[in-house]
Amino acid sequence: MGETLTIRDNRTGETYELPVSEGTLRAKDLFRIRDADGHGLVSFDPGMFNTATCHSSVAYIHGDKGILDYRGYPIEELAERCSYLEVAYLLVYGELPTGAQLDQWEYDINHHMFIPENVKKLIDAFPYDAHPMAKLMSAVSSLHAFYPESREADLHLSPHLQIRRLIAKMPTLAAFSYRHSAGLPFVYPRDDISYVENFMRMLFMMGERDYRPDPRLVHALEVLFVLHADHEQNCSTTTVRTVASSGNGPYTCVSAGIGALFGPLHGGANEAVLRMLREIGDVSHVPEFIRGVKTGGARLMGFGHRVYKNYDPRARIIKSTAHDVFEVTGVNPLLEIALELERIALEDEYFVTRRLYPNVDFYSGLIYEALGFEPEMFTALFAIPRTAGWLAQWMEGANDAEQKIVRPKQIYTGPARRHFVPIDQRG
Ligand code: CMC
Repeated sequence: MGETLTIRDNRTGETYELPVSEGTLRAKDLFRIRDADGHGLVSFDPGMFNTATCHSSVAYIHGDKGILDYRGYPIEELAERCSYLEVAYLLVYGELPTGAQLDQWEYDINHHMFIPENVKKLIDAFPYDAHPMAKLMSAVSSLHAFYPESREADLHLSPHLQIRRLIAKMPTLAAFSYRHSAGLPFVYPRDDISYVENFMRMLFMMGERDYRPDPRLVHALEVLFVLHADHEQNCSTTTVRTVASSGNGPYTCVSAGIGALFGPLHGGANEAVLRMLREIGDVSHVPEFIRGVKTGGARLMGFGHRVYKNYDPRARIIKSTAHDVFEVTGVNPLLEIALELERIALEDEYFVTRRLYPNVDFYSGLIYEALGFEPEMFTALFAIPRTAGWLAQWMEGANDAEQKIVRPKQIYTGPARRHFVPIDQRG
């Protein structure tokens, strides 16, 4: 006999036996449980706290144990051993590439890094102080106008060119957004250097004949890209899947994902952490700030997670990467404040009982700042690598026969039906 759940409805006295599989109850089966008026039972789950919306083989998180795997591989091994593009291939195709596959993949990505000149003009049309995420979102959504085949209904059967294009163009779009804000001329990509090195060159090259970033800094950014490449059904990935569910192509879906990522409770947290550290200003102000957090005055940004109830494994790797970066750049003075915040929070009853630990965003901003980025760029640095995860999830959803257009229910709280009153009779 299969696993079942027996439910007795005390409203009607009826008993129901509902199937359970993979530790999951189908919400649709609840609808069989009807009240005296025949209304089926509905599950209410704001923020989808306990609702699975898909089967996925891309990433796995065990929140209590602090585990993150991509396609079965521990994040620690991938961060130590792989380049970002190798991991992007793994996410998109499900297996690590062979040497020949990686060569071809890198070649293809390198040769799609240029963006259409009109997209460059679009970025140019923004005010200089526009947030880079606003530019990135618009530029990505505009790409479907340049590659109209990306809207074909059966694209999911052969999306490989679009996937390569988008992964390739993200660093160029982000770098151009940054150079535009800084009032600097754009630097075009080169086809003979790595993805991450190309990105740093497009960002930071000034008058040098042959700008080459410090390889230790390239490695640090590569590790950060690996750590941010996917994180199963988070807010932005769910947005990508939702927008895809009405039949959209990758550029529209990823542009929507960028919008979701922008929020300070999601990818915008890294920017918010840095602002918070600056506001605290000195290590002696930390206890007062923590008191404010505990009385509801502020949130400790970069702390807490919906799924991790243990140290976020990515935060642990980032913390050690920060030390490698500071060996090259000198220590970021805000590190001392961050370490003190972490020390106090990890001992404090408020944070301990709520199981709030540092997440991926707590230390990443310190590294980004040491690498020379303004806080406004931080979330764009998250969006570039997350594109591989979004595309893997977009493709998985589009090829999943179980998926339907997303259309949740609501609990209506408005007025009962009433009738129109002409304006001269309204009180
Ligand atoms: N500082 C202070 N209190 C917190 C924090 C925090 N950072 N996070 C959660 N809490 C408290 C919250 O007030 C609540 O307390 P109570 O039970 O007394 O009402 C309890 O912990 C549970 O919080 P929640 O808001 O119900 O939890 P959630 O799962 O809905 O939110 C979160 C998760 C990540 C949005 C939240 O922890 C948060 O706002 N953190 C700060 C922002 C942040 O760092 N976001 C990055 C997340 S990781 C990267 C990513 O997803 O992009």
